[in-house]
Amino acid sequence: MTDDDGYFGERVAGRYDESSGAEFQPEVIERTVDVLAEFAGGGRALELGIGTGRIALPLARRGVPVHGIDLSRAMVARMRAHEGSAGIGVSIGDFATTTVDTEREGPFSVAYLVFNTIMNLTRQEAQVACFRNVARHLAPGGVFVIEVMVPELRRIPAGQNIVPFLTGPNGWAYTVYDTVTQDATCHYIDIAPDGRGTAHATPFRYVWPSELDLMAQLAGLRLRHRWGGWAREPFTQDSVRHVSVWEKPTG
Ligand SMILES: C[S@@+](CC[C@H](N)C(=O)[O-])C[C@H]1O[C@@H](n2cnc3c(N)ncnc32)[C@H](O)[C@@H]1O
Repeated sequence: MTDDDGYFGERVAGRYDESSGAEFQPEVIERTVDVLAEFAGGGRALELGIGTGRIALPLARRGVPVHGIDLSRAMVARMRAHEGSAGIGVSIGDFATTTVDTEREGPFSVAYLVFNTIMNLTRQEAQVACFRNVARHLAPGGVFVIEVMVPELRRIPAGQNIVPFLTGPNGWAYTVYDTVTQDATCHYIDIAPDGRGTAHATPFRYVWPSELDLMAQLAGLRLRHRWGGWAREPFTQDSVRHVSVWEKPTG
């Protein structure tokens, strides 16, 4: 299975690196890479959903050997177009199930899944499988780092199931939530200069921090840190995202 025509096909890949979102600000990338490089120590890093290399490329520039998994050849082709990508190995496949060879170069010190990408696995079973897959790739003492939003159900007024998150001259976007199944779909309407709109949508499965802890437990991992962001700020009731770190026990 690949994603050549899917949610991260050529249309998204071609524009991905031009985003002006907070995740693309140099200081945010720097902080993210600081944390991941520290966890890598002298070891290797595995990025699930490596995409165009937003994080993998600067991490590799720090001297960390990085391997990535991604379904989308179009996203990976964009990464390959960037300088410094030659040393980054990529396996094309589903990160819930794809195995990377650890015989030759050894297991990974850190695996990471950032920018809400755990939610791209739209079934709970697949999210659980992802934790198990990561655990198999980690060295004892190695860690799995996830950055993901806290489900924003507190923003949904009673009787509604839609949260708008972008309204501007170039487009609108909103999320439709199903609080029974934990399915959600982000709908985007891009508005061209002539006023014509193009609609597209991406499904995801929102997931609670405690649910992720249980998935980690099922995979034999245990929580080491939960921060409110990459600056290692405290995770509180008002946090809108978390950076969570689970470790594979040494014993
Ligand atoms: C939001 S982008 C994030 C890319 C990169 N990690 C970043 O932070 O910029 C999500 C990436 O994950 C990939 N992806 C989504 N679901 C996947 C899956 N089940 N297996 C492998 N890759 C997947 C997409 O193709 C895309 O490249």
